[in-house]
Amino acid sequence: MRKPTVAGNWKMNGDLENTKCLVAAILKGLEKIENTEVIIFPPYVYLDSVGQQIRNVKISYHSQLLCGVQDICENDNGAFTGEISTTMLKDFYCTHIIIGHSERRHIYKENNELCAKKFLISANEGYVPILCLGETLEERNNDQTQEVIAAQLEAVIATAGIESFQNSIIAYEPVWAIGTGQTASPEQAQNVHEYIRTVITKYSQDCANDIRILYGGSVNAKNAKSIFSMPDIDGGLIGGASLNEKDFLTICESI
Ligand code: PGA
Repeated sequence: MRKPTVAGNWKMNGDLENTKCLVAAILKGLEKIENTEVIIFPPYVYLDSVGQQIRNVKISYHSQLLCGVQDICENDNGAFTGEISTTMLKDFYCTHIIIGHSERRHIYKENNELCAKKFLISANEGYVPILCLGETLEERNNDQTQEVIAAQLEAVIATAGIESFQNSIIAYEPVWAIGTGQTASPEQAQNVHEYIRTVITKYSQDCANDIRILYGGSVNAKNAKSIFSMPDIDGGLIGGASLNEKDFLTICESI
């Protein structure tokens, strides 16, 4: 049974004060949300504050709030100015790492090989990698969606091995749907999610059955329910709407 999962990618937004308010509101809202894994991804500089807030909660919840980071360095330590390593994360409340978000791939030119290294170090160090896959509009229009998704996925399988997917999550995020307000239809998303499972089946049937695949790209409080109702969609990776407590909690409730 795949656990319904909602992840909030805050990207480079917020300040200390509104981060505290947002976490407090989510913790409160979670009191009435059952059996859902909710993970937030604040900017690195707020990890300490967010971790302390979550740890201070005394009430026990049906749904647990977890915390992760939006990116990681593929190296362990050394002369890599500006980077953060998995070793450093051990000092914080952090369980998940987003790998290969389309903004990393497209703005910072991260290729499949680099994403694979980041995935490997994350999995080896005991974090849950959330591997993002997705095609551009041009690739979709050229009928290359499956080809692009397979290449992105198989590059990571080749480097990290299918075993390291046992404790990982995949997010299908069509580039044309991210931050554009143009969501994939539930059917379009379902088709790609199903295809992702088919690719994984070549390596491991169990892994294909068990792995959670989230959809991301302009999910909001209104469209979440219909997207989450599809059989191969196990939840969402939410950007813009995760910055608004009401919308984010509505999305969590839609699962
Ligand atoms: P969006 O972003 O929900 O704002 O489209 C999703 C993401 O980038 O993960």
